[in-house]
This record gives sequence, structure tokens and C-alpha cells, in this order.
Amino acid sequence: MVDITTELAGIKLKNPTILASGVLGETGSSLKKVFRAGAAALTTKSIGLEPRDGHTNPTIVELEFGILNAMGLPNPGIEMYLDELREVVKDGFPVIGSIFGKDPNEFSKLAGIMADNGVSAIELNLSCPHALGYGAELGAIPEMVKTITEQVKNTMTKPVFVKLTPNTSDIVALGNAAVKGGCDGLVAINTVKGMALSPELGKPILSNKIGGYSGPAIKPIGLRCVYELGTAGLGVPIIGVGGISSGKDIAEYLMAGATAVQIGTAVYYHGVDIFTAVITELKEFMTMHEFKNIQELIGLAI
Ligand SMILES: Cc1cc2nc3c(=O)[nH]c(=O)nc-3n(C[C@H](O)[C@H](O)[C@H](O)COP(=O)(O)O)c2cc1C
Repeated sequence: MVDITTELAGIKLKNPTILASGVLGETGSSLKKVFRAGAAALTTKSIGLEPRDGHTNPTIVELEFGILNAMGLPNPGIEMYLDELREVVKDGFPVIGSIFGKDPNEFSKLAGIMADNGVSAIELNLSCPHALGYGAELGAIPEMVKTITEQVKNTMTKPVFVKLTPNTSDIVALGNAAVKGGCDGLVAINTVKGMALSPELGKPILSNKIGGYSGPAIKPIGLRCVYELGTAGLGVPIIGVGGISSGKDIAEYLMAGATAVQIGTAVYYHGVDIFTAVITELKEFMTMHEFKNIQELIGLAI
């Protein structure tokens, strides 16, 4: 028997898998399905203060090795979302509340509301690549990352994770800024900026023209970012995300320095059963290579 339990800033996880933000996180019932399928925790869709429609269609393009999306952070706003959230947290599932705002005040207000409504931790979306004035537009500036993290931490005691953008020349500088602001963990990575173009129409396919690329193609980028953050020894756990769809992918992220992982696009392609599949594969991999517990894998490649 291998031990695949892990812990993130005091949150005990029965295995290292977490649902990534934005995929299936819209309703309480869809979130519960993810738990039933075996995920140890889940991240909500990124929620803002007010309702937002997001970009007009097309907002998603399926490409050969992943998907490109420019949803534009559509969400019902925090007040409307609370009913969905309460439905999941009342069952005792660990839920990470993902939030986005345009300034430190919006972030701390949202974090407070999420915390008062039972989430186990907060994830600051400082990395969405396709919403003007939000996400990566703030998250690419180390000073802003530090200020937002600091303000959120000042108003609450729950763990705060900062989700970083890979669309930077120095992800360690961003991670370091979040740590200086007092974060309890780093999430790497959000989607990679990209474009899909129709040669027949002679124009970009997405209404927003530029989107965020996810899925198998970005796994080497996610791994590299986790490895760089892990190697920098910033002193907080790292949650690895980007292109994970097998037990071996999880093992690779753990070895690069992650304590847990998030899965997004693979759920879009394979449904929630992906969680059971990757957990089984991870256990098989560990048994075959004589690893007894997850701790033996974490940071092995560093
Ligand atoms: C359709 C879609 C919507 C997403 N929405 C969000 C979001 O609301 N907030 C966020 O932080 N990340 C969002 N993401 C990014 C994912 O959480 C994840 O960081 C990224 O897709 C890489 O992981 P993957 O390759 O496993 O999908 C979204 C991704 C996709 C594909």
C-alpha cells in the first residue's frame, strides 16, 4: 500500500489532485460531482464582485494539443455564487475559493466574503491572460502581487494561494513577491498566451483574438515554472498545474517540487472520471518504483 495523502498549508488532502479553477466550477452540483469522482479538493471558478458576461463567442477553440480559451472571466458575481458555494462546503469538502478583482480592495473584500462562507483557502487569480484590467495585467507586476497578497492576508487568517502567470520572463520574481506579501502557497501555472487563426477567413478565431492555451502542450512550461519556483526555495508549497492527464504527469510535477496538483483541461476532455484514473496510475507508478509515500517524490528532481 502506498500513502498518497498530502498537506497544503494545514489542509489535509486524501490525494494530491485538485480541480483547477474555471472547469466545472460553476454550480454546487457540478462541484460535488468532482469530489465523488475522487478529487481531494476543488477550486471554484474565479469570482468577482459583480456579475460579468465575459467575451462574446467564440470563446473556446479546440486545437491539436490543447485548447485555447478567452472566456473573459464570466461569472454570476459573489452574491449570486454564494448559494452554489454553500451547497459544497456544507458537506465538509475542502474548497479553494478563486477570486479576481481590479485592485487590492476588491480582492480583500471578495476574500473576506469567501472566507465567511466556509472555503478552506483563497486563490488569488493574478494570472488570467484575457481580461482587460484584471488577472495577469496586475499579476505580471511584482509590486502589485505583493500589495494585493499583503492586503488580503491582513484581513483574514485562512491560507491564501497566489496563482501565477507563465507569461513573464521571471516567474520566480512574481513568486517571491507573493511570498513577501505573506502568501501560504503558489499555484503555477495559469494558461499561456496564444492565438488561433483561420486562414480561410484571414482573421483570429476567438472574438478576443488572443486567448490562454492549456492542456498537454503546456505541460513542459508548467513543469519548468514549478521547477524554477521549487529550486528558488521560497519556503511555501507549490501547487502544479498545466497539462496533467496521467499519474506519471503528477509524479513529474511532484518531482519538480509541487506538493499537490490541479487538473483542468483533462476534465474538459475526459470528464470527472479522470481523477480516479490518474490516482490509480499514480499508485501503480509508485508501487512499481518502490515509493512508499508522496513525500519521497516531492522535489526529487531538484
Ligand atoms: C475553459 C477554461 C476556463 C478557465 N478559467 C479559469 C478561471 O476562471 N480562473 C483561473 O484562475 N484559471 C482558469 N483557467 C486556467 C486553469 O485553471 C489552468 O490554470 C490552466 O488551464 C492550465 O491547466 P490545464 O492544462 O490542466 O487546463 C481556465 C482554463 C480553461 C481551459
